[in-house]
Amino acid sequence: MLEKDIEKVLVSEEQIRVRSTELGEILTAEYEGKNPLVLGILRGSVPFMAELIKHIDCHMEMDFMTVSSYHGGTKSSGEVKLIMDVDTAIRGRDILIVEDIIDTGRTLKYLKELLEHRGAKVKIVTLLDKPEGRIVDIDAQWTGFTIPNEFVVGFGLDYDNNYRNLPYVGVLKEEVYSK
Ligand code: PRP
Ligand code: MN
Ligand code: MG
Repeated sequence: MLEKDIEKVLVSEEQIRVRSTELGEILTAEYEGKNPLVLGILRGSVPFMAELIKHIDCHMEMDFMTVSSYHGGTKSSGEVKLIMDVDTAIRGRDILIVEDIIDTGRTLKYLKELLEHRGAKVKIVTLLDKPEGRIVDIDAQWTGFTIPNEFVVGFGLDYDNNYRNLPYVGVLKEEVYSK
């Protein structure tokens, strides 16, 4: 049903599973003994967060923040809004931000600066990186997949808050957002 709106699959369910397992193993080695706060950025990170943490085999805590910069369209508004903050003391803590995608980089730059200002040690893991979209200078320590400059949905990524529940990442047909 949703599939009819998808031009092509960019990253399959199987590829996401395999890569999340690999990243989980790398992160286990990185964070063993550090009890990191694994911080999912709502709403897009939810499916990747759920997949990734199954493969992190050390003590960790989980929390969430909500920020928004897209407000519905296909283009970043340029303004990042903090909608829900963390509920955890973070001074001196290792924080692993979990994101679905870095595009312009504005969301992650904003978050990283905010959390570092509060005294946390911040690293980033993202499922997708779209380097051609970058406007501000920020990079993740760990990336699942580097993708071309196309509007993608699925596995957490939305168009107008829809399509997040697709089990893969796909390119949305242009006719869906041009009408
Ligand atoms: C999307 C995406 C990232 C961010 C990336 O979130 O989930 O958080 O934009 O874009 P950027 O690098 O250009 O800042 P969005 O603001 O759409 O909120 P959502 O996660 O609730 O969809
Ligand atoms: Mn997001
Ligand atoms: Mg969005």
